[in-house]
Amino acid sequence: MPSFYVYNMEIIFATHNQHKTQEARAILGDDWTLKNLHDIGCEEEIPETADTLPGNALQKAQYVADHFHANCFADDTGLEVEALDGRPGVYSARYAGEHCTYQDNVNKLLAEMQGMTNRKACFKTVIALILDGETHLFEGRVDGTIIETQRGASGFGYDPVFMPDGYDQTFAEMGDELKNSISHRARAMQKLMEFLKK
Ligand code: IMP
Repeated sequence: MPSFYVYNMEIIFATHNQHKTQEARAILGDDWTLKNLHDIGCEEEIPETADTLPGNALQKAQYVADHFHANCFADDTGLEVEALDGRPGVYSARYAGEHCTYQDNVNKLLAEMQGMTNRKACFKTVIALILDGETHLFEGRVDGTIIETQRGASGFGYDPVFMPDGYDQTFAEMGDELKNSISHRARAMQKLMEFLKK
């Protein structure tokens, strides 16, 4: 692993996910050169052992800052269901177990919520930015409801059961373009971008 990695106007997104990288590049525009973990030769899984979204986002960003001495940011997302006291929350990825699929998680959520009338939920994304050694946090949130039977085939994760307020389609029915214009992640990215453009 290189011991330093510094460029002007360059920022590292602590993710291996190509889809997230493209989304972030589209929002950030040309002012910043955005690199992800593959781009800087970091193939290892960065630990995510905190029990909050900001904790995990900070842990990932700090790892990159410590190992690559670069400006960087990291995100963490969770689905918080009101009637489940905020679960699955920070554990959204592994809600149904260590090696579960997105479908396993959806099945578990629908089973746990069977018969519940309060179906309010929200997605939250927290982005931790480390810029010139200083830490900044940005949150994006979208409110909605968990429907009883899944609908739609696009997107990923809990998209087939999450219907954002003000729409009559789930995230999985509306397609990437609309989803990415209103999503929790897009809102957090937008705040990050406004900060970086200052
Ligand atoms: P991550 O922090 O982006 O890896 O997200 C953690 C988990 O939250 C994912 O594994 C998904 O289960 C869920 N998740 C994150 N973003 C979305 C989304 O936009 N739609 C549906 N599920 C999501």
